Amino acid sequence: MGSVSLKIGDGTARFGRASLCSSALNLVMLFSVLTTNLFALYAFTSSSTNQPLRYTHRNISLISEHVSLILREIDSSQKKLARMEKELLGYQNIDVSRSNVAKELKLFLQHHPLPLGKDSRTGITEMVSSVGHSCEKSMELLSQYMNYKVGGACPDDWSLAQKLISRGCEPLPRRRCFAKAIPKVGLLPFPLSLWKPVNDKIVSWSGLDCKSFDCLNSKKVGRGCVGCFDLVNGTEKHRFIKARSKNDFLVDDVLALGSGGIRIGLDLGGGSGSFAARLAERNVTVVTTALNVDAPFNEFIAARGLFPLFSSLDQRLPFYDNAFDLVHTVNGLGDGGHPEKMEFLMFDIDRILRAGGLFWLDNFYCADEERKRTLMRLIERFGYKKLKWVVGQKVDAAGMGKSLVYLSAILQKPVRV
Ligand SMILES: *[C@@H]1O[C@H](CO)[C@@H](O)[C@H](O)[C@H]1NC(C)=O
Ligand SMILES: *[C@@H]1O[C@H](CO)[C@@H](O)[C@H](O)[C@H]1NC(C)=O
Ligand SMILES: *[C@@H]1O[C@H](CO)[C@@H](O)[C@H](O)[C@H]1NC(C)=O
Repeated sequence: MGSVSLKIGDGTARFGRASLCSSALNLVMLFSVLTTNLFALYAFTSSSTNQPLRYTHRNISLISEHVSLILREIDSSQKKLARMEKELLGYQNIDVSRSNVAKELKLFLQHHPLPLGKDSRTGITEMVSSVGHSCEKSMELLSQYMNYKVGGACPDDWSLAQKLISRGCEPLPRRRCFAKAIPKVGLLPFPLSLWKPVNDKIVSWSGLDCKSFDCLNSKKVGRGCVGCFDLVNGTEKHRFIKARSKNDFLVDDVLALGSGGIRIGLDLGGGSGSFAARLAERNVTVVTTALNVDAPFNEFIAARGLFPLFSSLDQRLPFYDNAFDLVHTVNGLGDGGHPEKMEFLMFDIDRILRAGGLFWLDNFYCADEERKRTLMRLIERFGYKKLKWVVGQKVDAAGMGKSLVYLSAILQKPVRV
């Protein structure tokens, strides 16, 4: 599945940095606590014995001098801490004054004051163009990305864009060049388009090992996409309408649980879009998020007449609160190795799902019992009603017969007052 493997890899890297950061912070903390205490000890031992009154005044000013020294020390430690935190997390603003920054990037990021001053409705005074703060960590790649001829053809560099996104540089800046246009000949009308093979010619294969869908179907493209571009002979056409195991729920059963109220949905990391296709047949509109990891997922989904959303799952979902009737994911939640990361995503899913809406956790893979418990605890906290709940085991063909835990569930968002 497009977005999934990327998301996990990226997340791991970031959490690695975070723990590195926190141990460095701990060191600085320890240092400042130690120095603070030493100063205090010195101040008090050198002034604790009973002496004539005339000395007291001098001693008090001595002590206050020590105290202010300590305060200054604490202050400077705190500043140092903040600076280190900023550096380690990469939260510094993008410094466009640097010499190697592409001119187009500077232009794009320039602030434009509103001609009539402050806008009374929104309160803004200038227009800004946004770019992900993590882009700072990949300035060289970003400058390369922004290096093109204005008004000319963009370099054939979608994989560079995706590389930036997977490093957290999201959103990307806009560009003033023409993306390579590919003639989409032979697109079929909807709904015929849903299950017909997609022509190799309408896809850009640059930067990919495979140059055809046949080639892609002969290999495993990430977890969850084995032959997922084969809409004719493969297993893809049976998904969601025929169960292979007790962990597979059928779309019609799930839609029945929503009692007619399921009209729009979101599929997180939805592979080649077959979930959206099955729901489209049932008049439900589904948006499928996908990155083009090792395969042209976005083009394929679009060619089927479905809605692809080219986005990682690391940023806030670009939808309004309480909008969706259904959210489906196979393993878009990550592997449970970073509970907080999963929690941020889960809260975001909860946000866009309406009360009474369904969250379909489909064959969610739990690496071990501990991860499963983490996930369970998380789900319990949201107070969803468990309409279906199946924990199954599968033998991992690649992992020397090790058995893996899979969870499938249909959860209904409660009405919270
Ligand atoms: C005050 O300072 C004098 C000398 O600076 C010292 O001898 C004395 O012990 C101090 N007294 C107190 C109460 O700390
Ligand atoms: C499906 O299988 C049939 C018979 O094995 C074969 O002729 C056909 O080319 C296959 N179609 C695709 C799209 O792979
Ligand atoms: C989908 O909508 C069309 C047009 O309104 C209707 O004819 C068809 O029966 C609907 N299909 C389902 C499965 O509800």
